[in-house]
Amino acid sequence: MEKVQVLDKSFRISISEAQLKERITALGKEISDAYKDKDPLLVSVLNGAFMFTSDLIREIDFDAEVHFIRLSSYGDKMESSGKIREVMGLEKGVKGRHILLIEDIVDTGHTLDWIRKRFEMENAASVKMCSLLFKEEAFQGNEPPEFIGFTIPNAFVVGYGLDYAHLGRTLSAIYELDE
Ligand code: IMP
Ligand code: MG
Repeated sequence: MEKVQVLDKSFRISISEAQLKERITALGKEISDAYKDKDPLLVSVLNGAFMFTSDLIREIDFDAEVHFIRLSSYGDKMESSGKIREVMGLEKGVKGRHILLIEDIVDTGHTLDWIRKRFEMENAASVKMCSLLFKEEAFQGNEPPEFIGFTIPNAFVVGYGLDYAHLGRTLSAIYELDE
């Protein structure tokens, strides 16, 4: 599909399923090399990262704990509110652990800064992030993600887990707003 409609908005293809697969395989290798002797805690940020997480962890060649947190910053709008709310937390302590956060997208970077600070305050041994997508031009945070799938332009995207007002997540590729 080249174009899709989600509610009142139309979107065009940005990153195909094949491109996603190829890049995620490579990311899995990078993460395997970086973390193989570190026994990391993989922390997936719901909801958006569920699909990326499930594909990425199958490309990692060591066993690891996988945990989930859920944060909310967007509501139903297309812009980040900047206010982050923890809707579901980690049931596991992070003290002394190497944390690898798995995110769908880093936009302003507010979410990334917020979780990093939180886990650092809880004395994690290290906190890094693997984000499938990175909107470099929109980024206002302190440190960009350490592992990035694709750097994309500053346009709203859906698909492959990412949503517009909770819809569009089931699409197998990434689509960008067609204006
Ligand atoms: P940030 O705090 O501005 O970096 O935004 C983080 C969160 O906003 C991401 O984890 C996404 O859930 C959501 N988000 C940012 N940009 C987009 C987008 O283009 N499409 C869908 N969700 C987005
Ligand atoms: Mg997210």
